[in-house]
Amino acid sequence: MTNVVIIGMQWGDEGKGKIVDLLCPAFDAVARYQGGHNAGHTVKFGDQHFSLHLIPSGILRPGMRCILGNGMVISPEAFFRELEKLHAAGVVTEGRLFVSNRAHAVMPYAPLLDQAREAARGKDKIGTTSRGIGPTYEAKASRYGFRLGDLGTPLFEQRLPRAVERVAAELASLAGTGAEEAPSATEIAAVCRDWAERLRPFLKDTEGLLHAWGEAGESVLLEGAQGTFLDVDHGTFPFVTSSNSTAGGAAIGTGLPPNAITGAVGVLKAYATRVGEGPFATEETGEVEAHLRQRGNEYGTTTGRPRRCGWLDVVSARYSRRINGIQAIALTKLDVLDSLAEIPVCVGYRVGGTVHREYSMELEHGDFEPVYKTLKGWQRETVGTLEWEALPPEARDYIDFIEQEVGASVSLISTGPRREETLVRRGPALEHLLETRLDAVIAGR
Ligand code: IMP
Repeated sequence: MTNVVIIGMQWGDEGKGKIVDLLCPAFDAVARYQGGHNAGHTVKFGDQHFSLHLIPSGILRPGMRCILGNGMVISPEAFFRELEKLHAAGVVTEGRLFVSNRAHAVMPYAPLLDQAREAARGKDKIGTTSRGIGPTYEAKASRYGFRLGDLGTPLFEQRLPRAVERVAAELASLAGTGAEEAPSATEIAAVCRDWAERLRPFLKDTEGLLHAWGEAGESVLLEGAQGTFLDVDHGTFPFVTSSNSTAGGAAIGTGLPPNAITGAVGVLKAYATRVGEGPFATEETGEVEAHLRQRGNEYGTTTGRPRRCGWLDVVSARYSRRINGIQAIALTKLDVLDSLAEIPVCVGYRVGGTVHREYSMELEHGDFEPVYKTLKGWQRETVGTLEWEALPPEARDYIDFIEQEVGASVSLISTGPRREETLVRRGPALEHLLETRLDAVIAGR
């Protein structure tokens, strides 16, 4: 049994979807453990493109079981929409898609609160995806939220009016920012009864399923959404999402005990991007930003917003390696750097006269400047390269430098968007993580 968590080492959008898809043959099931339809990845399936936000892309692999774990916040509407798209394309989901009855529901008023709160923040806005993710986690922590398994029950009907009253009062107080009125409790109750009915075939005690599968020796891939620096505890607070996207969240968000998680793969983009507001030490503007955005097609899958772009930061990547216990790195979008003559990498932060070599939250307060080491570019196409020796020597130096600075082996190198455009470096890290199933991953590439 190997239960491996896949984590974004930056601010999300590192290309986790492709890595999850690539590693699927080594696992029996895929589980998500946090976030909701704020996440998104585009998956190619035959000649079709799918934008999936909630359901793991593993669903496109025949027979693969998928779990939406208790740590997620789930919009039933978004879930049914994805399901319809999958069914229209002939994907069979019966008997292999399970949704935790403990996951919290993104209620119809949650996106209204999200938008109104953002408008009220004005220039201090977070830049959320407006999907209602923050208000749903807030309602969970404040204990007026509803789990999917609560919807439509007598207890739900009894508690709903108080929750709606609370939301209506907040929306009324934000009316000046253009906030919409909350729907009535009666309207919401009717919607939720319908949701409860349609969700019934999917709702399960998913932690029990995972325990049973583990006891039968089966392996689960735990798919993190967003990234380390969007984690509500370890990220650039308050410019973060509302859940624990780091590896620790995988235990809480699935009900697997921490010692059942046997490893972590970190997905690191060869440069850096961020959507939404908040600190971004290596952000570039002008030509460099335009080049990275255009070559890397850096636009949000969920909101279509252009992503902010800049250079790789190995100081924060090392912090991410430590927080998540990352044993192997999947380096993505290397080919986006192909035409550059020089590639700066952030190796420290200067605050006043002092250079800090380790990441610290205090840096987020100060006026810090990145300290760069400039590496030589390779100025040759690497798209589709599958052998280490076939990479230009400067690209190998770039990767060796990342390994040394971050402290984990770069075992997978993505040199294009397609599954087959991935260089797999056999070695102790991947052998430990995937055990005997490494060959299946290489064969399925
Ligand atoms: P929220 O998760 O919608 O509350 O947004 C909080 C912050 O996380 C914003 O900066 C979003 O842009 C960012 N965010 C949320 N989900 C993703 C994602 O999947 N990729 C990248 N950024 C995300």
